[in-house]
Amino acid sequence: MITWWEGQLIPRNGYQCWQLLPPQHSLAWDVGTSNGQAAFSLGEHYEQVIGSDISESQLKHALQHPRVRYIHTPVSMSDDELVALLGGENSVDLVTVAEAVHWFDLPKFYSLVKRVLRKPGGVIAVWGYNASVTRPTLDGVVKRFYETAKPFQDRKTQYLWEGYRTLPFPFQSVGLGSEGEPLPLEIPKEMSFEGILRMLRSSSAVTAAKGQGVDLLSKEVIEELETAWGGADLVRTVTCKAFMLARKV
Ligand SMILES: C[S@@+](CC[C@H](N)C(=O)[O-])C[C@H]1O[C@@H](n2cnc3c(N)ncnc32)[C@H](O)[C@@H]1O
Repeated sequence: MITWWEGQLIPRNGYQCWQLLPPQHSLAWDVGTSNGQAAFSLGEHYEQVIGSDISESQLKHALQHPRVRYIHTPVSMSDDELVALLGGENSVDLVTVAEAVHWFDLPKFYSLVKRVLRKPGGVIAVWGYNASVTRPTLDGVVKRFYETAKPFQDRKTQYLWEGYRTLPFPFQSVGLGSEGEPLPLEIPKEMSFEGILRMLRSSSAVTAAKGQGVDLLSKEVIEELETAWGGADLVRTVTCKAFMLARKV
């Protein structure tokens, strides 16, 4: 269901599933789009896709697609300006947020979503993954890594670490996860040892710890991971855990 692409989990069939939900497929808005991996995939299913991000530098690397337009939305932008850029109230059929909603000011974001989603029928879908990987020999080592990372977690990533179980999500259910009970997704994936390391390195706690002079992925930790993996050259099937919530207005 989900493919691993440059360190990100993308629910590809998820798009097929959600595209059945909104009655119209005119406009999708991917928020916190970063380099546009989700927006690009949505471009295959929607007449028009807008990918937005507060970071202009992330957008510079965005994947180009003829039906996808990227917009920079700095924190200084007012909600009214953003609504106008998106085509006005009731104009968006699907809002997606991949691995980013935990960073947002949720009451502000949800009120904006309620304004722009087409009524009735507009759908919001958010998903994330907290980099759990189940493989018996690796589990213990990865768990220990996350324990050492805990003190460096940003408060906002707490939702992510809790698998979005505590994430407020005030919309009507469409049967794909609900507030308090996200839809769990287990994704078997072929991964290299380098891929696992890349996934762990991408954690914001690793960067925060580094800023405080702590190397969470020290030589010793990497060696321990490598032993649990069985060798740096092996490609193995692991199960990654993701979670999704989709609702309509
Ligand atoms: C992990 S990346 C998202 C990955 C991306 N959605 C994908 O499909 O691969 C998180 C992104 O959220 C963006 N972001 C954080 N706060 C934001 C906000 N309030 N509004 C829009 N984007 C935001 C960051 O700049 C960053 O690019």
